[in-house]
Amino acid sequence: MTSISSHSFGGDDQTSEEEEAFTIEIIENMEEEYGMFVWPCSIALAEYVWQQRLRFSGGVSVVELGAGTSLPGLVAAKLGSYVTLTDNSTRLEVLANMKRMCELNKINCQVLGLTWGEWEAPIFSLKPKVVLGADVLYDTKDFDNLFATVAFLLHNSPGAVFIATYHNRSGHHLIEYLMVKWSLKCTKLVDAYSFIPFSKASSIIGTIQLAEIMLDDSTT
Ligand SMILES: C[S@@+](CC[C@H](N)C(=O)[O-])C[C@H]1O[C@@H](n2cnc3c(N)ncnc32)[C@H](O)[C@@H]1O
Repeated sequence: MTSISSHSFGGDDQTSEEEEAFTIEIIENMEEEYGMFVWPCSIALAEYVWQQRLRFSGGVSVVELGAGTSLPGLVAAKLGSYVTLTDNSTRLEVLANMKRMCELNKINCQVLGLTWGEWEAPIFSLKPKVVLGADVLYDTKDFDNLFATVAFLLHNSPGAVFIATYHNRSGHHLIEYLMVKWSLKCTKLVDAYSFIPFSKASSIIGTIQLAEIMLDDSTT
């Protein structure tokens, strides 16, 4: 069954008068697989993008990996980023839903099939300053391919950063191992509760962490 959820940003005491609050509408389908549902990690990452809005203004290039319902990427686009929303290229219903949500919210984004660890032609032209990933550290069998794609994008765009939110499930040792394998370093690690406003905290179940990850130049 399809439903539309609304997600608001700004409009609180910390939003200055010049900064307009806005709402993003997300089309969800609870009966479909996981790419058609707004996961708590997505709510946390979208809120972080909003709070870090200066980094996302002025046409900065952003790619969201495994975007699913794409809330963080849509917030970045609303803030003025040039956003490419991506998901597994075999998930045509997810990619079609992204296009519908761009139309619904009157937001311009590129929508692209991008399967982690696969090197189709369009990935070579992506030079993002920020790569976003909400709950993409989900299935340990995909971790190596995900980090391969992240490392490729960071190499393709010097100074770029991968910002990810993830549940503290098992697999932490694997993440640490793969970060070394792909010459990545964590530059920031925070608990989502440290920045999520009280009004959104009930959407967050369990422990969610946010990591900012960059290339570790000292190892190359
Ligand atoms: C747990 S969902 C998170 C969706 C969305 N980011 C959110 O937080 O609401 C994982 C997402 O990763 C995508 N995904 C899974 N395996 C993938 C792969 N090998 N390549 C690209 N995307 C993949 C899924 O289609 C899905 O949209």
